[in-house]
Amino acid sequence: MKRYHPALVSLHWLLTVLIIVALLMGSNILSQIPNDNPEKLFALKMHMISGFIILILMIVRLVIRQVTKKPPHADAGNAVLNKAGIAAHYLLYLLVFAMVGSGIAIAVISGLPDIVFNNSGVALPENFNHILPRLFHGVIAQVLFIMIFLHVLGALYHQLIRKDSLLSRMWFGQ
Ligand code: HEM
Ligand code: HEM
Repeated sequence: MKRYHPALVSLHWLLTVLIIVALLMGSNILSQIPNDNPEKLFALKMHMISGFIILILMIVRLVIRQVTKKPPHADAGNAVLNKAGIAAHYLLYLLVFAMVGSGIAIAVISGLPDIVFNNSGVALPENFNHILPRLFHGVIAQVLFIMIFLHVLGALYHQLIRKDSLLSRMWFGQ
Protein backbone atom coordinates (compact mmCIF):
# COMPACT_ATOMS: atom_id res chain seq x y z
CA MET A 1 0.00 0.00 0.00
CA LYS A 2 1.82 3.09 -1.27
CA ARG A 3 -0.95 5.67 -1.39
CA TYR A 4 -4.04 6.81 0.42
CA HIS A 5 -7.37 5.66 -1.04
CA PRO A 6 -8.44 7.88 -4.00
CA ALA A 7 -11.56 8.96 -2.08
CA LEU A 8 -9.34 10.12 0.78
CA VAL A 9 -7.02 11.89 -1.66
CA SER A 10 -9.97 13.70 -3.29
CA LEU A 11 -11.36 14.71 0.10
CA HIS A 12 -7.93 15.85 1.34
CA TRP A 13 -7.52 18.31 -1.56
CA LEU A 14 -11.17 19.40 -1.71
CA LEU A 15 -11.14 20.11 2.04
CA THR A 16 -7.79 21.89 1.73
CA VAL A 17 -9.39 24.39 -0.66
CA LEU A 18 -12.62 24.74 1.37
CA ILE A 19 -10.82 25.18 4.72
CA ILE A 20 -8.27 27.69 3.40
CA VAL A 21 -11.02 29.71 1.66
CA ALA A 22 -13.12 29.67 4.89
CA LEU A 23 -10.10 30.82 6.92
CA LEU A 24 -9.20 33.63 4.49
CA MET A 25 -12.79 34.79 3.89
CA GLY A 26 -13.62 34.55 7.62
CA SER A 27 -10.71 36.68 8.75
CA ASN A 28 -10.42 39.11 5.81
CA ILE A 29 -14.02 39.64 4.75
CA LEU A 30 -16.69 38.28 7.14
CA SER A 31 -15.21 39.62 10.38
CA GLN A 32 -14.51 43.02 8.73
CA ILE A 33 -18.15 43.67 7.74
CA PRO A 34 -20.01 45.55 10.52
CA ASN A 35 -23.11 43.71 11.77
CA ASP A 36 -25.41 46.62 10.73
CA ASN A 37 -24.26 46.37 7.09
CA PRO A 38 -27.02 44.61 5.05
CA GLU A 39 -24.34 42.51 3.30
CA LYS A 40 -23.45 40.85 6.59
CA LEU A 41 -26.39 38.42 6.45
CA PHE A 42 -25.32 37.05 3.06
CA ALA A 43 -21.68 36.75 4.16
CA LEU A 44 -22.76 34.92 7.33
CA LYS A 45 -25.03 32.61 5.32
CA MET A 46 -22.22 31.64 2.92
CA HIS A 47 -19.77 31.15 5.81
CA MET A 48 -22.19 29.00 7.81
CA ILE A 49 -23.13 26.86 4.79
CA SER A 50 -19.47 26.28 3.90
CA GLY A 51 -18.75 25.46 7.57
CA PHE A 52 -21.44 22.77 7.48
CA ILE A 53 -20.16 21.36 4.17
CA ILE A 54 -16.69 21.17 5.75
CA LEU A 55 -18.17 19.36 8.78
CA ILE A 56 -19.98 16.77 6.64
CA LEU A 57 -16.94 16.14 4.40
CA MET A 58 -14.68 15.83 7.46
CA ILE A 59 -16.98 13.16 8.94
CA VAL A 60 -17.10 11.29 5.59
CA ARG A 61 -13.31 11.54 5.46
CA LEU A 62 -12.89 10.12 8.96
CA VAL A 63 -15.18 7.19 8.11
CA ILE A 64 -13.32 6.45 4.85
CA ARG A 65 -10.02 6.74 6.73
CA GLN A 66 -11.20 4.06 9.16
CA VAL A 67 -12.37 1.60 6.50
CA THR A 68 -9.59 1.92 3.88
CA LYS A 69 -5.97 0.77 3.96
CA LYS A 70 -3.37 3.48 4.56
CA PRO A 71 0.35 3.50 3.73
CA PRO A 72 2.59 2.98 6.78
CA HIS A 73 3.58 6.15 8.66
CA ALA A 74 6.14 8.16 6.74
CA ASP A 75 9.66 8.00 8.22
CA ALA A 76 11.07 11.46 8.90
CA GLY A 77 14.41 9.91 9.93
CA ASN A 78 13.99 10.80 13.60
CA ALA A 79 11.76 9.24 16.30
CA VAL A 80 10.64 12.59 17.71
CA LEU A 81 9.75 13.98 14.26
CA ASN A 82 7.86 10.77 13.47
CA LYS A 83 5.72 11.17 16.61
CA ALA A 84 5.25 14.89 15.89
CA GLY A 85 4.02 14.06 12.38
CA ILE A 86 1.39 11.65 13.67
CA ALA A 87 0.30 14.09 16.39
CA ALA A 88 0.10 16.94 13.83
CA HIS A 89 -2.35 14.96 11.69
CA TYR A 90 -4.64 14.32 14.69
CA LEU A 91 -4.33 17.96 15.71
CA LEU A 92 -5.38 19.11 12.22
CA TYR A 93 -8.56 17.04 12.47
CA LEU A 94 -9.22 18.32 15.99
CA LEU A 95 -8.71 21.98 15.05
CA VAL A 96 -11.07 21.79 12.06
CA PHE A 97 -13.79 20.19 14.24
CA ALA A 98 -13.12 22.83 16.92
CA MET A 99 -13.58 25.59 14.31
CA VAL A 100 -16.95 24.17 13.30
CA GLY A 101 -17.98 23.56 16.93
CA SER A 102 -17.11 27.08 18.09
CA GLY A 103 -18.77 28.52 14.94
CA ILE A 104 -21.99 26.65 15.73
CA ALA A 105 -21.80 27.84 19.35
CA ILE A 106 -21.55 31.50 18.23
CA ALA A 107 -24.50 30.95 15.88
CA VAL A 108 -26.72 29.28 18.51
CA ILE A 109 -25.94 31.85 21.23
CA SER A 110 -26.73 34.78 18.90
CA GLY A 111 -29.82 33.19 17.31
CA LEU A 112 -28.20 33.22 13.85
CA PRO A 113 -30.06 30.21 12.36
CA ASP A 114 -33.39 32.11 12.58
CA ILE A 115 -31.95 35.47 11.57
CA VAL A 116 -29.86 34.17 8.67
CA PHE A 117 -31.93 31.30 7.27
CA ASN A 118 -35.54 32.08 8.32
CA ASN A 119 -35.33 35.86 7.67
CA SER A 120 -36.84 36.44 11.14
CA GLY A 121 -36.17 40.17 10.76
CA VAL A 122 -34.52 40.29 14.21
CA ALA A 123 -31.44 42.54 14.13
CA LEU A 124 -28.00 41.01 14.57
CA PRO A 125 -26.23 41.88 17.84
CA GLU A 126 -23.93 44.92 17.53
CA ASN A 127 -21.03 42.44 17.17
CA PHE A 128 -20.08 38.96 18.38
CA ASN A 129 -17.12 40.04 20.49
CA HIS A 130 -18.77 39.50 23.89
CA ILE A 131 -19.40 35.79 23.11
CA LEU A 132 -16.72 33.43 24.47
CA PRO A 133 -16.90 30.93 21.55
CA ARG A 134 -16.22 33.92 19.21
CA LEU A 135 -12.91 34.41 21.02
CA PHE A 136 -12.14 30.68 20.65
CA HIS A 137 -13.16 30.74 16.97
CA GLY A 138 -10.60 33.52 16.30
CA VAL A 139 -7.81 31.90 18.34
CA ILE A 140 -8.37 28.41 16.88
CA ALA A 141 -8.31 29.96 13.39
CA GLN A 142 -4.81 31.36 14.10
CA VAL A 143 -3.58 28.01 15.44
CA LEU A 144 -5.05 26.23 12.39
CA PHE A 145 -3.26 28.67 10.04
CA ILE A 146 0.03 27.88 11.81
CA MET A 147 -0.58 24.11 11.77
CA ILE A 148 -1.38 24.15 8.03
CA PHE A 149 1.84 26.10 7.45
CA LEU A 150 3.87 23.55 9.50
CA HIS A 151 2.07 20.68 7.70
CA VAL A 152 3.13 22.10 4.31
CA LEU A 153 6.70 22.61 5.61
CA GLY A 154 6.70 18.96 6.79
CA ALA A 155 5.49 17.76 3.39
CA LEU A 156 8.17 19.83 1.62
CA TYR A 157 10.85 18.51 4.02
CA HIS A 158 9.92 14.95 3.02
CA GLN A 159 9.58 15.76 -0.66
CA LEU A 160 12.67 17.94 -1.17
CA ILE A 161 15.12 16.98 1.60
CA ARG A 162 14.36 13.33 2.28
CA LYS A 163 13.31 12.87 -1.35
CA ASP A 164 10.82 10.15 -0.38
CA SER A 165 8.04 11.32 -2.78
CA LEU A 166 5.68 11.86 0.13
CA LEU A 167 3.34 13.99 -2.00
CA SER A 168 2.61 11.05 -4.29
CA ARG A 169 1.07 9.24 -1.28
CA MET A 170 -1.58 11.96 -1.24
CA TRP A 171 -2.18 11.75 -5.00
CA PHE A 172 -3.84 9.37 -7.46
CA GLY A 173 -2.14 6.38 -9.09
CA GLN A 174 -1.66 2.64 -8.94
C1 HEM B 1 -6.51 22.79 5.15
C2 HEM B 1 -5.33 22.30 4.88
C3 HEM B 1 -4.91 20.87 5.17
C4 HEM B 1 -5.34 19.99 6.11
C5 HEM B 1 -6.41 20.22 7.20
C6 HEM B 1 -4.60 18.74 5.93
C7 HEM B 1 -4.74 17.60 6.72
C8 HEM B 1 -4.06 16.42 6.52
C9 HEM B 1 -4.20 15.24 7.31
C10 HEM B 1 -5.09 15.11 8.54
C11 HEM B 1 -3.39 14.27 6.77
C12 HEM B 1 -3.22 12.82 7.26
C13 HEM B 1 -3.99 11.90 6.39
C14 HEM B 1 -5.39 11.78 6.87
O1 HEM B 1 -5.58 11.34 7.99
O2 HEM B 1 -6.34 12.17 6.16
C15 HEM B 1 -2.72 14.85 5.64
C16 HEM B 1 -1.82 14.21 4.84
C17 HEM B 1 -1.07 14.83 3.87
N1 HEM B 1 -1.13 16.16 3.48
FE1 HEM B 1 -2.43 17.50 4.17
N2 HEM B 1 -3.73 18.91 4.87
C18 HEM B 1 -3.89 20.20 4.39
C19 HEM B 1 -3.21 20.78 3.34
C20 HEM B 1 -2.13 20.21 2.69
C21 HEM B 1 -1.30 20.89 1.70
C22 HEM B 1 -1.48 22.34 1.22
C23 HEM B 1 -0.35 19.99 1.32
C24 HEM B 1 0.76 20.27 0.33
C25 HEM B 1 1.99 20.30 0.61
C26 HEM B 1 -0.60 18.73 2.04
C27 HEM B 1 0.11 17.56 1.89
C28 HEM B 1 -0.17 16.37 2.52
C29 HEM B 1 0.55 15.13 2.26
C30 HEM B 1 1.70 14.92 1.29
C31 HEM B 1 -0.01 14.16 3.12
C32 HEM B 1 0.42 12.68 3.27
C33 HEM B 1 1.30 12.61 4.49
C34 HEM B 1 1.65 11.19 4.86
O3 HEM B 1 1.50 10.30 4.06
O4 HEM B 1 2.08 11.00 6.01
N3 HEM B 1 -1.69 18.91 2.86
N4 HEM B 1 -3.14 16.17 5.50
C1 HEM C 1 -13.85 24.90 9.39
C2 HEM C 1 -14.87 25.74 9.38
C3 HEM C 1 -14.73 27.21 9.66
C4 HEM C 1 -13.65 28.05 9.46
C5 HEM C 1 -12.29 27.69 8.88
C6 HEM C 1 -14.04 29.37 9.93
C7 HEM C 1 -13.22 30.50 9.92
C8 HEM C 1 -13.54 31.72 10.47
C9 HEM C 1 -12.64 32.83 10.62
C10 HEM C 1 -11.17 32.81 10.20
C11 HEM C 1 -13.33 33.86 11.20
C12 HEM C 1 -12.76 35.23 11.59
C13 HEM C 1 -12.01 35.08 12.88
C14 HEM C 1 -11.34 36.36 13.31
O1 HEM C 1 -10.94 37.16 12.45
O2 HEM C 1 -11.17 36.55 14.54
C15 HEM C 1 -14.68 33.40 11.43
C16 HEM C 1 -15.70 34.15 12.00
C17 HEM C 1 -16.96 33.68 12.23
N1 HEM C 1 -17.45 32.42 11.94
FE1 HEM C 1 -16.39 30.87 11.19
N2 HEM C 1 -15.33 29.30 10.42
C18 HEM C 1 -15.79 28.02 10.25
C19 HEM C 1 -17.04 27.52 10.59
C20 HEM C 1 -18.07 28.28 11.07
C21 HEM C 1 -19.42 27.79 11.33
C22 HEM C 1 -19.88 26.34 11.10
C23 HEM C 1 -20.15 28.86 11.79
C24 HEM C 1 -21.57 28.94 12.22
C25 HEM C 1 -22.47 27.99 12.09
C26 HEM C 1 -19.27 30.02 11.83
C27 HEM C 1 -19.63 31.29 12.24
C28 HEM C 1 -18.79 32.38 12.33
C29 HEM C 1 -19.18 33.65 12.87
C30 HEM C 1 -20.57 34.03 13.40
C31 HEM C 1 -18.03 34.47 12.82
C32 HEM C 1 -17.93 35.90 13.36
C33 HEM C 1 -18.00 36.93 12.30
C34 HEM C 1 -17.79 38.31 12.91
O3 HEM C 1 -17.01 38.46 13.85
O4 HEM C 1 -18.41 39.24 12.41
N3 HEM C 1 -18.00 29.63 11.38
N4 HEM C 1 -14.78 32.09 10.98
